[in-house]
Amino acid sequence: MSEATPKAEQGPVTVRRLRRMKAEGRRIVALTAYDASFAAVLDEAGVDVVLVGDSLGMVVQGHDSTVPVSLDDMVYHARAVARGCRRALRVVDMPFGTYGSPAAAHAAAVRLMQEGAAQVVKLEGGAVQREVVRHLSERGIPVCAHLGLTPQWVHKLGGYRLQGREREAAERMVTEARLLEAAGAELLVLECVPTALAGRIRRELAIPVIGIGAGPDCDGQVLVLYDLLGLTRGPRFARDFLAGRGSVREAVAAYCEAVRAGAFPGEAETIA
Ligand code: KIV
Repeated sequence: MSEATPKAEQGPVTVRRLRRMKAEGRRIVALTAYDASFAAVLDEAGVDVVLVGDSLGMVVQGHDSTVPVSLDDMVYHARAVARGCRRALRVVDMPFGTYGSPAAAHAAAVRLMQEGAAQVVKLEGGAVQREVVRHLSERGIPVCAHLGLTPQWVHKLGGYRLQGREREAAERMVTEARLLEAAGAELLVLECVPTALAGRIRRELAIPVIGIGAGPDCDGQVLVLYDLLGLTRGPRFARDFLAGRGSVREAVAAYCEAVRAGAFPGEAETIA
């Protein structure tokens, strides 16, 4: 690691710390994991946020979308990941169909926290989720919102593609980001949106904005672990960090360093 690259702060990561990192301009490193062994590698490498993503439906279970993933699946994988983590904040996806009403969302989130040891739950969607976010947040459940390309909406969106390109869609996304923050969201994931739009949302919000395929102007970056390890064909915005390196540990350490130094995503991984 170069002299200039900031190092991971010691001690358990909390949502308060992530907010402080944003305020201090220190980039947040996030990465998905689905089991204890990989979670331990990420945790030891200094990843700040381990996301138990419902992307497991595609990269672990072999489905062609995240829609078939069940709450039991998420509880199972979240519990395994928790056994591998000491420092990283554990964010767990609420699967498709489990947060259609505040009461349903609360029941699902309680399972993820009690049985899956989740510390933050993540859900997809904009203004329509405002009441759910408020309901959870007011009951002590930290929420990470997710805007842009929301994979659970793939059949409605008609594919996995850049979101917020047109002016009206961009303005709507800014408004929705503000609404979700006002409702109590602690974090926001922005997936597959133009760099300028992600930067604008990052500047307008006090909560950390974690990008994936959203360019370099975010408070942090997240990737699907299997894309980082070159196991998938991977979207254009991902980088195979294992290529040319000798171990998974080295690949994850290189990702941490690249994100903290602002070297990932680079031009090749920036789509708009
Ligand atoms: O499920 C997942 O892995 C995610 C990331 C793509 C952000 O939501």
